[in-house]
Amino acid sequence: MLSNRGDQIWPAKDYTRVPYWLFTDEEIYRQEQQAIFRGPVWNYVGLEAEVPNHGDFKTTFVGETPIIISRLKDGRLAAVVNRCAHRGALVRREAYGNDTSHTCIYHRWSYTLEGDLRGVPFRRGVAGKGGLDESFRDEEHGLQKLRIESFKGMMFVTFSPNTEPLPEYLGEEQCEQIARLMCKPVKILGFQRQIIHGNWKFYQENLRDTYHASLLHSFFVTFGLDRVTNPGGTMLDPSKRHSFLHNRHDPSNSKPVVHGGAESSNAYASQGVTAERVRLEETSFLQYRDQYHDDLRVYIACIFPNAHYQQMNNCLNTRQMIPRGPSAFEVVWTVFGYEDDDEELADLRKHQANFIGPAGLVSMEDAEVIESLQSTLKYEYEACAVVEMGGRGAITTHNDNKVNEIPVRGFWSSYAQLMGIEPTGGER
Ligand SMILES: [Fe+2]
Repeated sequence: MLSNRGDQIWPAKDYTRVPYWLFTDEEIYRQEQQAIFRGPVWNYVGLEAEVPNHGDFKTTFVGETPIIISRLKDGRLAAVVNRCAHRGALVRREAYGNDTSHTCIYHRWSYTLEGDLRGVPFRRGVAGKGGLDESFRDEEHGLQKLRIESFKGMMFVTFSPNTEPLPEYLGEEQCEQIARLMCKPVKILGFQRQIIHGNWKFYQENLRDTYHASLLHSFFVTFGLDRVTNPGGTMLDPSKRHSFLHNRHDPSNSKPVVHGGAESSNAYASQGVTAERVRLEETSFLQYRDQYHDDLRVYIACIFPNAHYQQMNNCLNTRQMIPRGPSAFEVVWTVFGYEDDDEELADLRKHQANFIGPAGLVSMEDAEVIESLQSTLKYEYEACAVVEMGGRGAITTHNDNKVNEIPVRGFWSSYAQLMGIEPTGGER
């Protein structure tokens, strides 16, 4: 067990050093399944708009555990483990569907949408022989039920009876941002899926790291979507587990930038960074239609441990991260708009969905970097990452600059707490 090992694991109490072996170790990964994904957290599992009608279901995962989400007759949602209570086979194999019950293919045991056992073939045997004993109680053999709650149409489940109610877990500022994003009925425009061959925690770091965004992602910098010189910053909830990295619209940059802007070009040039390697012939891609009447255009939010939601101009999306062993994870991108979007706006959203996904003009580099990280760290049990941008010490919740890695340390402090490996006197 790892308990009381926090002091040995972390060279710095403020999480400015992250031991690389945490990304590769099998035992750590096994413990994460229990302590994190089955622990007192809300795992994101999709949008309610994916299962709008009675009998609609989707299958997905919480950590490595397969689950089914179903829409019940009275409009409520139900979440169960997708594993037959009989002999453990996967009950539902489809990604989506509509049905009145869930039936396992192995021996045709059948369950209600809520997971209660309702049918066992040959229960009484044949000609009085075989079958189940009279004492067998159906109510003791349902699918394992999970708590499910949704906030503004985003669905979350938890294995733990101790997880606080969802809005409390999300915190006030995340609730505000989700309410802004999910301000009216949404229409799903499509999905992208990707397996990235790296540890899931690299992704959590990546999406909390505002510093890399305008250095790694040429597209961001070149076309003015995200530059260190734009107004913006980082926000953490009071628990430090969720983050919100934001870019505020710079009024001096009101038109799409086709080949750089003087101020930021100079800022990057002075750091020896070439920010204008490419130019766009077709600039309609960078258009923005404002529906929110504020200055927020590009942001990425993380809800611990696996949810992300994002606005990139008019491309709205959520990402569900699913761990697939210590050195792989899957990302499911859900791109959506609003039901009342006109055709032009819906088209613009789909067009701008090219920012994200496996071949995304921005997201593609993140996968490349994460895969290279995983390959450089094999069997490394001594070295650590240095996470000092933004300073050492206190993990501050609100920072008005984009040259900091403080949300990354916020992730690690929350992770260490759940894993029971906090250093004595560690930053909270
Ligand atoms: Fe990135």
